[in-house]
Amino acid sequence: MMKKDSTLLEIITYGHPVLKQKAQEIKNITEDIKNIAANMVYTMHSSPGIGLAAPQINQSIKLITADLSVGEKKEDLLVLINPEITFREGNKDMEEGCLSVPEINENVNRPAQIVLKGYDLNEKELEISAEGLLARVLCHEVDHINGILFIDHLSPLKKNLIKKKLKKRL
Ligand code: NI
Repeated sequence: MMKKDSTLLEIITYGHPVLKQKAQEIKNITEDIKNIAANMVYTMHSSPGIGLAAPQINQSIKLITADLSVGEKKEDLLVLINPEITFREGNKDMEEGCLSVPEINENVNRPAQIVLKGYDLNEKELEISAEGLLARVLCHEVDHINGILFIDHLSPLKKNLIKKKLKKRL
């Protein structure tokens, strides 16, 4: 997965229109898609982050990566094509951040358990049951491909305060 010639990609931040778009379904897993995925993994690990979605690197396609071990455990790495959350149960509050919303951390309510369906880079269909932090990361990244940021889950009051803070920094 991690090739020697991997490229560090630029992560777009709050205010960029692509972050608000619904991403396109991937119809063919081309060499191009595989390269983007490899560069996303490299960029996620380098940032460092535990998840990344293609819209964050200015590619409006349904592709996400996640790795709770941040490169420490090979088996933790997930690269998911056209991911969809098909089951949600329970809910939990936890502090969250996002590489596209720098320096903002807020409590977000998310399902405690989920099932995600999608494909890997070999077009193998996957069904992943997740709970805790992994469930949270996967929900966060699937939100990205639907044009939703974690701050969109906050109350309008809180969201407005954060927006003002972010706009001041632009
Ligand atoms: Ni994010």
